[in-house]
Amino acid sequence: MEGGFSSQAPIPKRLEGKVAIITGGASGIGETTARLFVQHGAKVVIADVQDNLGLSVCKDLGSDSDVTYVHCDVTNDSDVQNLVDTTISKYGKLDIMYNNAGISGKLDFTIQDTDYENLKRIFDVNVYGAFLGAKHAARVMIPAKKGVILFTCSLASVISGESPHAYTVSKYAVVGLTKNLCVELGQHGIRVNCISPGALPTPLLSSALGMDRSTLEGHLCAAANLKGVVPSADNVADAALFLGSDEAKYVSGVNLVLDGGYSTTNQYFTLLLKKQLS
Ligand SMILES: NC(=O)c1ccc[n+]([C@@H]2O[C@H](COP(=O)([O-])OP(=O)(O)OC[C@H]3O[C@@H](n4cnc5c(N)ncnc54)[C@H](O)[C@@H]3O)[C@@H](O)[C@H]2O)c1
Repeated sequence: MEGGFSSQAPIPKRLEGKVAIITGGASGIGETTARLFVQHGAKVVIADVQDNLGLSVCKDLGSDSDVTYVHCDVTNDSDVQNLVDTTISKYGKLDIMYNNAGISGKLDFTIQDTDYENLKRIFDVNVYGAFLGAKHAARVMIPAKKGVILFTCSLASVISGESPHAYTVSKYAVVGLTKNLCVELGQHGIRVNCISPGALPTPLLSSALGMDRSTLEGHLCAAANLKGVVPSADNVADAALFLGSDEAKYVSGVNLVLDGGYSTTNQYFTLLLKKQLS
């Protein structure tokens, strides 16, 4: 082809030779990221508690030599230990540990409504699960003197009052863990970052709001600051691909906010000044 790029040119594989674990990889952000990582040449271990879903994602993605499912409840220390050990025995190393599993818990918005069992469950999965993932990843990454640890955090760590207290506090904890680990593990050549998406039309939010995907997408687009992009798990997968790849080799300690600028503005007074509100 003269004077241009061939439409058949292969996409460069940005994770060739890397081995990644993705927790919560059977659904939503984790599943989308697993698909993208495999496309980019990574060997991927999907860890989840939804075994049938996880196994079917693996089957869809290709051969056992490229993608594996491991049952792992991230709140259980021996499950997470087994997850990392299985990855090492199968693929020989661990380059990227993406601690993505999380739950929204009950939508109790007032401090009076906040129920201890719900708070405890959210902390077990979103915070203790993240700790365990980082702890077992560090165990094998420190001797290798390299590695990437990622967490899925949330816009709730940046903008207040839009998520229940328990969920918000759990995600603030994930930012704290990211930053502390960045300092501790930087000494060993390990980068640590988190990604904070705004609301996305995954099963987590659809079921919390009791809304189908297209209704939810309609609300998310109406609320968005940046128009013309439908918020989706793909945006998070793209960010995880960048942070997991060597392109981000000097990026550590970052909470990467993915919200199309939503948290930068509140348009109420602009609309009032433009007389679009009465
Ligand atoms: N969807 C959103 O609007 C949104 C926004 C910001 C942040 N997040 C965060 O993104 C992450 C992924 O959520 P999602 O939206 O893809 O939801 P999802 O429900 O589609 O996926 C979450 C996955 O985590 C798994 N999981 C839950 N508890 C687990 C446990 N104890 N052990 C192992 N796996 C477990 C679930 O089985 C599920 O497959 C979560 O940490 C969530 O807090 C989501």
